[in-house]
Amino acid sequence: MKHIAVMGSGNGSNFEAIVKWFQDKSVEITCLSDVEDAFILKRAQNLRINHQFLPFEQNFEYFSKNEFDLVVLAGYMKIIPENVLKAMGKVINIHPSLLPAFKGKDAVKKAFLAGVKVSGVTVHYVDCNIDTGKIIAQYPVFIDNSMHFDEFEAEIHEIEHRLYPIVIEKVLEDKIFDFHDLMKSGCSKNKEGGGCDRCGQH
Ligand code: GAR
Repeated sequence: MKHIAVMGSGNGSNFEAIVKWFQDKSVEITCLSDVEDAFILKRAQNLRINHQFLPFEQNFEYFSKNEFDLVVLAGYMKIIPENVLKAMGKVINIHPSLLPAFKGKDAVKKAFLAGVKVSGVTVHYVDCNIDTGKIIAQYPVFIDNSMHFDEFEAEIHEIEHRLYPIVIEKVLEDKIFDFHDLMKSGCSKNKEGGGCDRCGQH
């Protein structure tokens, strides 16, 4: 049995996707939030997942006493200092752009307003700077000229929810994988027998 901690400060939609992916697998999940009334804690309660409000200042003490195979940041909006990161062990994060482009807050909006034609989602290891750690996986989202911001944002979140659980599983298994594995493992929009939504060819 592996143990992971998922940490978030807000909505928790990635947390919920992770819980659903691992529900029949031997991975125990603990949900932690630095915001007492964050919706992620409500989701954890509804999903019957261990959860607790963990003030930012108490991270060091908590992780010195509680060990996890992996700590997963999912919308955790604070920068974690180096000594705390060391106590946490292996820590990964998801970011809604193709890093190193559009680091920091509001990345989806920044990418859209910049007029990029391809953006996407990145999963990376966490270091003590903002969105700079070693990249583990990326997945693209194409922006058509006719695409509205809301559609783009929805597609980014949809990809996040598919990508993050797969990457977490691979990291827990210590496996190296590449883009083609992601295509095969259900991250892409492949439909049974129908091929890719966009080009119909793979
Ligand atoms: C996600 O889009 C995640 O990529 C982003 O916060 C959102 C959390 O949503 N994280 C960052 O921007 C980190 N720099 P959620 O709470 O619904 O999972």
